[in-house]
Amino acid sequence: MKKMQAANYNEFGGPEVVKISEIEIPELKEGEVLVKIKAAGVNPVDAVIREGHYKDMMPHNFPVVPGWDMAGVVEERGHAARRFDVGEEVYAYARRPEVKWGTFAEYIVIPESYLAARPKNISWEEAAGIPLAGLTAYQSVYVAGNIKEGQKLLILGASGGVGSFAIQLAKLRGAEIIGVASEENHEYMRSLGAKHTIDYRKKDIGTAAKEIAPDGVDLIFDCASGESLKQSIKALKSSGKIVSLLNQGDDIDKNIDFQFVFVEPNSRQLDHYRELVEDGKVTVEVNKFYSLKEAPEALKQIQTSHTTGKIVIAP
Ligand SMILES: NC(=O)c1ccc[n+]([C@@H]2O[C@H](COP(=O)([O-])OP(=O)(O)OC[C@H]3O[C@@H](n4cnc5c(N)ncnc54)[C@H](OP(=O)(O)O)[C@@H]3O)[C@@H](O)[C@H]2O)c1
Repeated sequence: MKKMQAANYNEFGGPEVVKISEIEIPELKEGEVLVKIKAAGVNPVDAVIREGHYKDMMPHNFPVVPGWDMAGVVEERGHAARRFDVGEEVYAYARRPEVKWGTFAEYIVIPESYLAARPKNISWEEAAGIPLAGLTAYQSVYVAGNIKEGQKLLILGASGGVGSFAIQLAKLRGAEIIGVASEENHEYMRSLGAKHTIDYRKKDIGTAAKEIAPDGVDLIFDCASGESLKQSIKALKSSGKIVSLLNQGDDIDKNIDFQFVFVEPNSRQLDHYRELVEDGKVTVEVNKFYSLKEAPEALKQIQTSHTTGKIVIAP
């Protein structure tokens, strides 16, 4: 059986449980492809899973290989897996129903339905930074939030992986964006398309947003939750909506239109991203690269909640 180098862990815990070692590559089954991973995006959920917070919600099978984002090359195809040729360059949000095979590795075996052709005009690292964060922004701002031209959107945590895509998608629709992050990221958020910025460390977000938009905002996209979400609610129009990635709505006034989003794999939406990126309408902001050996370091960084844009592992 063919082997690969992979980050993996045999118990839940801190970054120290993650080892880099040689493990067997599973055999290809019907509809599956073997992809040689060129780069893997790192997301906060990788650390959340490693700490065991989802262990009762998602079945897991040790050793677990962390990572759900990847860009790579199709190397072998299983029975009836013919959507992609060998050698074709693809990317994917590789969250399977069972937590087991991830992307911080040299290879992944995955059903081809997860894959889309990757944008050709950007690097492997940039392509690997798109799937999870990009789909989250898409499913929140376009699908759940249905943002429209001229609407006002308040994004909490707008300089991170998800927020960086959310600003660009909302801007493409013609929305007016208020980005919330610490001051050092304000110029960055403006460069992506935010018209206004608020520093959550210095101001009450709701009060500051009402100064900018006295009639209130149409949509709050919450990538931060906690006190930031509580403060922001007073800036929501009575007809407005909150879309949250972290709060499930239990402590939110039931009169408010509220939706929790948990991002789903969606290769058609990744096809749309490819078009947006190749047309120069969306860029991917990768600000730090790690080797596979440095996977525990990358997981430490993503756990700070203060990453700007994306960070990526290249095996
Ligand atoms: N439900 C889902 O499907 C889903 C999908 C993706 C992500 N998520 C979750 O959504 C969150 C964001 O993900 P991400 O990948 O964008 O994370 P990230 O890259 O780590 O970005 C974090 C962002 O939050 C900002 N921030 C930190 N503390 C804040 C506060 N108290 N108030 C307002 N903003 C604050 C940071 O700005 P500064 O650096 O300036 O502080 C940064 O813009 C994470 O908790 C992640 O687990 C959920």
